[in-house]
Amino acid sequence: MQEVLIKSKVFIKKEAQYGAHNYQPLPIVFEKGEGVFVWDPEGNKYYDFLSAYSAVNQGHCHPKIINALIHQAQKLTLSSRAFFNSKLGDYEEFITSLFGFDKVLPMNTGAEAVETAIKICRKWAYEKKRVPYNCAEIVVCKGNFHGRTTTITSFSTDGNARNNFGPYTPGFITIPYNNLEALENVLKNNTNISGFLVEPIQGEAGVFVPSEGYLSGAKKICQKYNVLFIADEIQTGIARTGKMLAIDHENVRADILILGKAISGGVYPVSAVLASNEIMKVIQPGQHGSTFGGNPLACAVAKAALKVIIDENLQSNALVLGKVFRKKMQKTVETLDIVTEVRGKGLLNAIVINTDEMSTLAWDICLKLKENGLLAKPTHGNKIRFAPPLVITKTQLDECIEIIETTLMSFS
Ligand SMILES: Cc1ncc(COP(=O)(O)O)c(C=O)c1O
Repeated sequence: MQEVLIKSKVFIKKEAQYGAHNYQPLPIVFEKGEGVFVWDPEGNKYYDFLSAYSAVNQGHCHPKIINALIHQAQKLTLSSRAFFNSKLGDYEEFITSLFGFDKVLPMNTGAEAVETAIKICRKWAYEKKRVPYNCAEIVVCKGNFHGRTTTITSFSTDGNARNNFGPYTPGFITIPYNNLEALENVLKNNTNISGFLVEPIQGEAGVFVPSEGYLSGAKKICQKYNVLFIADEIQTGIARTGKMLAIDHENVRADILILGKAISGGVYPVSAVLASNEIMKVIQPGQHGSTFGGNPLACAVAKAALKVIIDENLQSNALVLGKVFRKKMQKTVETLDIVTEVRGKGLLNAIVINTDEMSTLAWDICLKLKENGLLAKPTHGNKIRFAPPLVITKTQLDECIEIIETTLMSFS
């Protein structure tokens, strides 16, 4: 036992010694995953309630996705876009018809897809909207999280993510989230504004769900001022909130849709930007791309992963079980002083711990949750996000709710 316990410690020590300290992981090592469970090297089993920040919606190592990966990996992995490959067109047809767009631009990570959307939006501004050269602006929201590149961190409002990474990319205007008046005010006074980039739910900020009508209202305002409505569904998309997209709850159609994470079920880095012909055609050869974007392995994996969502009706499961989760957690909120709020949509939820953002209490609760067999991580200090794989069953969820309640009670 002593010997095996040391195994995890060795892995943790190595990461600390040889890796950059750009994350602060919970002290748990993943060695194996299946469905809603992960195992550490010592063989302990845990419920995964983070799902790699909502990338593993289909559950760890889903056999259909893994089979697609193996099958394609044995045939062809990379062509580059210097040549055609036998998987890309088929995948493009599949994903565009699934989401109802004319065209897709395939990339790899979420941040790359956001960068892509920004480039497309700016080019559209000059070539279609006739914004004066170099004057295009994009409106973003306070508390946003869209990734970690230089441009994206330029418009982050999180000091830790932004400070000392300047000089910053210009061309972004920040307004409060969930505030239609602020959006209309900024758009009506500035004809150079070309896009409004928004998360349908602010995940990293602590699962802030905007008021009903915010997204449809924002879309209407964008239409009124000829501004592109750009939805970053990297975390909220692919059935996480109980619909294929979070904007579907308000029947909103994005002008530019950004997807990532779960379009590959956490098996391979795949992201995508979708738009109409009119918008996407502003990008011509040589103006954007990526060596790996649209590679045959990614296409095979993403198509299989999206099919799993549809075939297993994971959006309905997320919708139904999300309601169960919030209803039960609401009772806990009412009985325990340590937690002040539960919020979310589908299976993207968070509880707010009754402390300030600087307190380590939420971290300590997560350590205790881990001891009790459930893995979650604080976000922005005092919020704990709960986002299990969408393949979770009602029985499993009930067991997890019990773990969470017992753990919270032990702190009360
Ligand atoms: C809403 C949103 N946009 C963009 C990103 C960045 O994605 P990636 O980490 O794959 O670059 C994330 C990641 O958490 C996200 O939640």
